[in-house]
Amino acid sequence: MTMSSKTKLLCLNNPNNPTGAVIPDEMLKEIVEIANKYNIWILSDEVYRGLNLYGNPYSLSIADIYEKGISVGSMSKTYSLPGLRVGWITAREDLINEINHQRQYNTISISIIDDYFASLALETKNSIAYRNFDIMRKGLTVLEEWIASEIYADCILPRGGTTALIRYKKDIPSRDFARNLQRSTGVAVLPGETLEMEGYFRLGFCTDALSPALSLISEFIREL
Ligand SMILES: Cc1ncc(COP(=O)(O)O)c(C=O)c1O
Repeated sequence: MTMSSKTKLLCLNNPNNPTGAVIPDEMLKEIVEIANKYNIWILSDEVYRGLNLYGNPYSLSIADIYEKGISVGSMSKTYSLPGLRVGWITAREDLINEINHQRQYNTISISIIDDYFASLALETKNSIAYRNFDIMRKGLTVLEEWIASEIYADCILPRGGTTALIRYKKDIPSRDFARNLQRSTGVAVLPGETLEMEGYFRLGFCTDALSPALSLISEFIREL
């Protein structure tokens, strides 16, 4: 990542989809220092915030530590409620006023019912978080064991979020890999090509179906 006086905006996604990487708080502060030096805004997609697998589940939010920090979050990931279509943005007041002004042009109102259910979920957010951590930890253990035993796959294991980026050791384009895998086994992964990461696929690891899915992937890879 290069920042200079020509840079206007730095976009981060923390924790990251697809890799599950988490920017350590100290590193985030260093990034802020550099951005501040060049007067750069930082927009941080924090939809997975609260899902760190190690230490404090919550990374620092960029809007809390930087005057030109803009944080966006939603109900979709950390609170497992993507159907609500409710999200938020946090930034300094003058920017929020600008955003509200623009928003008037394209959104008259979000659904009041969605808003109501989002409020209910946020009031009991800890119980949702405990349930999610349980699913994540189980998934991570299954993934960890699979990576350790599968010679045709490699991965820097996720430290947060719900996705992992897997490198497969076969000479086949990721689009063909994903399409053929889906057709022959029903297991859907995102081809790395769509992420400019050819030779990789993205896997959602927080599902009860993970173990059988990984066995099917192993069988599929062996037949390539
Ligand atoms: C990093 C990231 N940001 C934003 C979104 C969109 O979230 P929402 O459902 O709240 O629009 C996603 C959904 O996949 C995501 O992975």
